[in-house]
Amino acid sequence: MTGTNRAALRTPPAYPEHALPPRVRKLERPAALVKAQALAFLMFEKPDLDACAAFLGDFGMQPVVHDSGQLLMRGSDAASCIYLARRGARSRYLGAAFRVAGEAELATLERQAGARRLPAGAVPGGGSGVELADPAGNLLWLVCGQQPLAPLPLPLRAPLHPLTNSVGLLPRINATVRPPLEPAAVARIGHVVMQTVDFANMAQWYMRHLGLIPTDVQYLEDGAPTLCFFRLDLGAAPADHHSLVLAGGIEDKYEHSAYEVVDLDALGQGHNVLRANGHRHMWGIGRHVLGSQLFDYWYDPDGMEFEHYTDGDVFTADHPTHYVPLELSGIWAWGDDVPASMGVQRNLGTLLKVARLLWQGRLSIARLKLLGRAMGRPRPWL
Ligand SMILES: [Fe+2]
Repeated sequence: MTGTNRAALRTPPAYPEHALPPRVRKLERPAALVKAQALAFLMFEKPDLDACAAFLGDFGMQPVVHDSGQLLMRGSDAASCIYLARRGARSRYLGAAFRVAGEAELATLERQAGARRLPAGAVPGGGSGVELADPAGNLLWLVCGQQPLAPLPLPLRAPLHPLTNSVGLLPRINATVRPPLEPAAVARIGHVVMQTVDFANMAQWYMRHLGLIPTDVQYLEDGAPTLCFFRLDLGAAPADHHSLVLAGGIEDKYEHSAYEVVDLDALGQGHNVLRANGHRHMWGIGRHVLGSQLFDYWYDPDGMEFEHYTDGDVFTADHPTHYVPLELSGIWAWGDDVPASMGVQRNLGTLLKVARLLWQGRLSIARLKLLGRAMGRPRPWL
């Protein structure tokens, strides 16, 4: 193996914020208006709700409302909704809803951020909320008071990994591993990832309006923070490694959202169910580096990405922010090769997007080159 190949397979360096290399710039954190407690649900516009319901059912969600105008889906936990789609002319991401503690937080956002009060009945499961638009035009809802549903006992089965036999460790004796072949029951929503042209501004905006903590910041070769995994500030309670990811790039768009399943066997069996039912696979199964999740990515009927995951990292609020160089080869530890669609797309569409951004002054040639280098380093065999 050459030196280059070894470099591509190494674990990327990670620097805690108090020990940053000199050229790496810190991601400054603004004062937070409120601290969100959970990612509640995502909102989409979809032309064919029946097709979405069929995909999401095979993906392991359960319908709450499915009529000609809207589709609400839940997981097996008590959240009244994790996915909301309104019927519309085209498939597009509308935005995200986060849960806050109560009316005081909503009033703060109305007073200090110009948030607009949502009409009665707008929030699935009841309760109230306010609406903002982020700098890229995506909706951000802050909601409270949703009525919890009774958790679904089935089909979410008990996790199998406590019974995993290993070298010198045999918890499973006179018993087999034969869980039923079924959709990977989604327990809850985990995170949403968005690409953004103006990373710096979007990062500040989301930290200010949700009280997010940067868990891992990824930087370009010039030291500029360009991608960040943000977690909720839950104090001493553990929070997912990320509930929101912003990835600097050449367009403003939804990248994917991720939903937690119980264990690796659910991930693998869910994969087989989705494949058997004719859905389009994107990437996986593998393990991420930042966040550590075991992952499997699928396309919905309109080509939007949805991720199953299990075994993700969790951190309390006092865990320090870390900084990691941005490299395509660093987004997965092992598993299926990263699909070409996640790398640099050298086609006419990309050329037009880049030309427009350069003309508008929203992107420089120097940054474009750095982004291209960061996202153009796959594994040695790719
Ligand atoms: Fe993800």
